[in-house]
Amino acid sequence: MTTASAPGKIILFGEHAVVSGATALGGAIDLRASVSVQDRPGGVVVSTDDLMLKGFSLDLQSGRLFSSQATHAVRYISAVLREFGAHDVEVRIDSSLPASAGLGSSAAIVVAAVLAISSHQGSSLSLKEIAALSFRLEREVQEGLASPTDTALATYGGYLKISSQISPLDLPPLDLVVGYTGVPHSTRSEVEKVQKLKKKYPELIDGIFQAIGTISDRAQPLMVDQNKAELGELMNINHGLLEAIGVGSRELCELVYASRGAGEAMGAKITGAGGGGCMIAIPGPTGEEPLITAIRQAGGRPFATTMGQEGVRLEMEA
Ligand code: PMV
Repeated sequence: MTTASAPGKIILFGEHAVVSGATALGGAIDLRASVSVQDRPGGVVVSTDDLMLKGFSLDLQSGRLFSSQATHAVRYISAVLREFGAHDVEVRIDSSLPASAGLGSSAAIVVAAVLAISSHQGSSLSLKEIAALSFRLEREVQEGLASPTDTALATYGGYLKISSQISPLDLPPLDLVVGYTGVPHSTRSEVEKVQKLKKKYPELIDGIFQAIGTISDRAQPLMVDQNKAELGELMNINHGLLEAIGVGSRELCELVYASRGAGEAMGAKITGAGGGGCMIAIPGPTGEEPLITAIRQAGGRPFATTMGQEGVRLEMEA
């Protein structure tokens, strides 16, 4: 059996503006997806009893399947299996990342699958090859609308600066609390909505995107200095700008305001495409406990995470 795992991700600053060329800043988190491959003569079976994927078992030949989130995961695994011409194998997915929440769950599954399946076949791909292939496969499944951010973060881990190209950043770990609204979102429709607004009000939205890019640039030295007070202020400004371009929601706002109020956060914002999904907050001097309680009381699902985690890795090869 060969098992590989890859991390999910969080976008700290710059979502949406990055689609139009502004800088964004993202990092890998400590929630991971793992994919195991073993020989199984007579067909291809993909399975998971993972709660995040709502439990399913599927035989690709008979086509029997339960759960739409699971269908999603299986489409990515099938693309990887096709790419490597793999057959007579059983693939198992375990993920602690909620799907469609802006935490890079599908990229983590694709990247872990590329490493697990290629290693199982005896080939050894470089990180660059894994990132490039995973991006191509994710984009194929998502019909052209994936950015390379998630697959690059799942592959390399750490932190990345994303603009016209993707470059690694050497930054210290950052503790955050994430609040999941429980509302799945579609990155595609949020991006389409924002781009439509940009077409209608180019002089307004261009200015907002430029301001968001400036926030990403200003955040980098603050990350080096661990200046959480100013990073928190930048998060609050970035959140307001995301609200302005229409990707907020009542649920997200409630979690953001609960974090800044009872949660005593240094700052809080939407992360990812918005419209649902997750928000993030930097814990204040009283730590993560009040923040976790405040997010839970506001109806969210909180968890603490540390950014800057390791990228894809082999867990087991036997
Ligand atoms: O899929 P999400 O929720 O992590 O959002 C991705 C960030 C966007 O800037 C909205 C889209 C992109 O491809 O960069």
